[in-house]
Amino acid sequence: METKILVVADYESVKELLQPSLAHYEHVRFTTSREVKKEIDRIAPDVVLLLQPEDGSGVELVQYIQNELPEGIIIFLTEKQDFVLLRDVVRAGAVEYILMPDELALLSDRLEKIAELMHQQQRRKGTAVSGQAFVRGRGKVYSFYSGKGGSGRTQLATGFAQALKLESTARVLLIDLNLQYGGVETFLSLDHNRTLADLLPVMHEMNENHIRNVVQREIHSKLEVLLSPRDAETAETISEEFVSRLIRASRRSYDFVIVDLPTHMNELTYTALEESDLIYYVMNLDTPSVQIYRLVENLFRRLRIDTTGRLEVVINQVDRESELSAADIKGLIAVPIAAEICRDRRGVQAAVNQGMPLQKEANEKKLAPAAKDIRKWVLAKLT
Ligand SMILES: Nc1ncnc2c1ncn2[C@@H]1O[C@H](COP(=O)(O)OP(=O)(O)OP(=O)(O)O)[C@@H](O)[C@H]1O
Ligand SMILES: [Mg+2]
Repeated sequence: METKILVVADYESVKELLQPSLAHYEHVRFTTSREVKKEIDRIAPDVVLLLQPEDGSGVELVQYIQNELPEGIIIFLTEKQDFVLLRDVVRAGAVEYILMPDELALLSDRLEKIAELMHQQQRRKGTAVSGQAFVRGRGKVYSFYSGKGGSGRTQLATGFAQALKLESTARVLLIDLNLQYGGVETFLSLDHNRTLADLLPVMHEMNENHIRNVVQREIHSKLEVLLSPRDAETAETISEEFVSRLIRASRRSYDFVIVDLPTHMNELTYTALEESDLIYYVMNLDTPSVQIYRLVENLFRRLRIDTTGRLEVVINQVDRESELSAADIKGLIAVPIAAEICRDRRGVQAAVNQGMPLQKEANEKKLAPAAKDIRKWVLAKLT
């Protein structure tokens, strides 16, 4: 293939390691971190595979290459999982980073995609491919929270994740953080043989492969789901650090990470909320729901959870007989209303009885009313 690839590595054994991924490419050059400045100019590669140099100058090198080669696509390869380094490398302009040797299988996949896009772009308008098309490590985390039990978090989180997966090509992961009782497995009819607790032993090096080995897939959409251990004793062994590592590793590997949270505010819920790009607060149309929302607002303030620009309310169970209307809610709270989901006893009941998710295929014609509302919300979010 035509793609010009420059590999920057300070040790020889890398050639062998990368051989399977690079075998199809004719234009592959190797250089070291000391020589790279000369070579960049000379070769003008399309793709730079940069291995973390021994002197730890990875971030600076990414910046340098990015400057010299604005259209170049930089992929960072490293043997150690180090969140701070990886975050900095992505900020500096690497579009992707891959852990060796575990994630090397991804490399072939990404290179193929790059080659394919370059080909298309050249045919179309002769413009260069922008690295943005491949960005990984910046997946969005949306968590579903409410201070009031039974408001519909699990129903909406599963419905949202399912519709998102069906209606887009995004990689979507749903995580059930109701560690004691779970819930997601019921709405999606999933087996309970693997759970997120299976990731505890690999907490410090958690990567895409580990997650992939533990997820369950919903049969219609292939939505990937990390189930709850549903066990108080196991829940006790799950730490704040685990939750934070889990969410970060997930964010690196998926475009959207949907998190279903319990009402109980503890350090785990806190951590998940802190890691979220967006918190969907699920609210019903009655006075207790509004009162509890106020308490939660207060609690967030006391815990110094900064919700500026990342808290939105989803009104669930909307119907004509509700005590309050959606318009009342708008007058009572300051944050945006992301969606209104109707009360749909029949549709929800039918799905539960059949052990089926609310939506089973993309662009499904005969959706129940609640499923329609969820789909509309997801489509609005995708545009
Ligand atoms: N829009 C809706 N229409 C009809 N029924 C709904 C709707 N949303 C949720 N439900 C039903 O209400 C019940 C509670 O919903 P769900 O379990 O999602 O709430 P939750 O906030 O996750 O509760 P928990 O506190 O138990 O985690 C479920 O039986 C669910 O099927
Ligand atoms: Mg729930």
